[in-house]
Amino acid sequence: MKIMVVGGGGREHAIISSIRKNPAVECVYALPGNGGMAADATCVPIAATDIDAIVAFAVENKIDYAVVAPDDPLVLGAVDALTEKGIPCFGPNKAAAIIEGSKVFSKNLMKKYGIPTAAYEVFGKPADALKYLDNASYPIVIKADGLALGKGVIIANDLAEARAAIHIIMEDKVFGKSGNQVVIEEFLTGPEVSVLAFTDGKTMVPMVSSMDHKRALDHDKGLNTGGMGTIAPNPYYTEEIAKVCMETIFLPTMAAMNAEGRTFKGCLYFGLMLTPKGPRVIEYNCRFGDPETQVVLPLLESDLLTVMQAVTEERLAEVEVKFSQGSACCVVMASKGYPEKYEKGFEITMSEAVRPHVFVAGAALKDGKVVTSGGRVLGVTAVEETLPAAIKTAYARVGEVHFDNAYWRSDIGGRALAALEEK
Ligand code: AMP
Ligand code: GLY
Repeated sequence: MKIMVVGGGGREHAIISSIRKNPAVECVYALPGNGGMAADATCVPIAATDIDAIVAFAVENKIDYAVVAPDDPLVLGAVDALTEKGIPCFGPNKAAAIIEGSKVFSKNLMKKYGIPTAAYEVFGKPADALKYLDNASYPIVIKADGLALGKGVIIANDLAEARAAIHIIMEDKVFGKSGNQVVIEEFLTGPEVSVLAFTDGKTMVPMVSSMDHKRALDHDKGLNTGGMGTIAPNPYYTEEIAKVCMETIFLPTMAAMNAEGRTFKGCLYFGLMLTPKGPRVIEYNCRFGDPETQVVLPLLESDLLTVMQAVTEERLAEVEVKFSQGSACCVVMASKGYPEKYEKGFEITMSEAVRPHVFVAGAALKDGKVVTSGGRVLGVTAVEETLPAAIKTAYARVGEVHFDNAYWRSDIGGRALAALEEK
């Protein structure tokens, strides 16, 4: 089989590594992929958002199955366009991808169907938003409606910060049209959990839970990033909580999307906060998380391609989706300075022994060498029987990967270990 994966980061590298385990897979194309995954996939220089070029490539190369991994092409309708040409694919169509593409849509969906989330108001005019803020309590959370490269959420500690956020999003339009509307919502507290779930609109199969580490510096200090590391499973997410989430969040979300005529097929990502009042949805994503995928898929014992095809063909209930009992850790090695200014172009070297455990996000091929080309350069992973062992192995492997100006957090999994000790 010829497989095509749209996207080019560490998540896509992890998906490609899992798909390649299926013996029927002859070759995998990554559009555009990156220079660091060239050993595992044929990288094709087509942007993940160039839907016409993606479809043309798939038709020309007789692709048997496509996976659309990032949010932008999903929201732009890549799955609709590929399906129209008879190419089976994994991922939601445009109508369903709106669950991530518009926060106003997802908040209104949750309100309409009684799915637990933070209380909120929607504003389309800056003056109305500013007026509301005068009498609000702080901290408060301000979210741009549309996609904003993961930067559209601002936690404002006081009125001045909140007003500044409204100006930046709605007037300066730093996120473009995504800031035409804002959601202003209640600030919640509690441990965060990421749960990715396979769903074909009839069956919902949550994968092993995980925990992202979004801040740039140790002890959750510094700026928000695309994710500096992950662990799985998340020790805060007990079986009891999983049951509550299935009944009050996962299944109701599937039913709500069906009722809206927007059946979701693919991987639905639930960003949850375990508040003192119970689990609440912080965000939905219409795709696999990054870097959650880098710890979740290595724990998947069933064949990923088989599960994905079952989702596409709406027979998810017929296949087994089994996860190992072990734990996984992923430590992201970034370019020093990320998420702000950083230098790139440094050669990346690693021992052959660690290579299969490294998922590359920001690298390019230059004169036959793999060099850094992004802020988050790669994720170093490990699977072991226990979480402490997985963390230890992941950090030992970090020591076998080298590039100038490398930076990584030294406390990935720290909070999770503390939670395990409290148990
Ligand atoms: P997002 O960009 O949607 O992933 O949100 C970034 C982060 O903002 C989340 O991971 C949470 O830590 C935080 N956040 C979002 N909504 C809320 C909320 N209502 N209360 C507290 N924190 C929030
Ligand atoms: N790790 C968060 C995300 O993928 O959006």
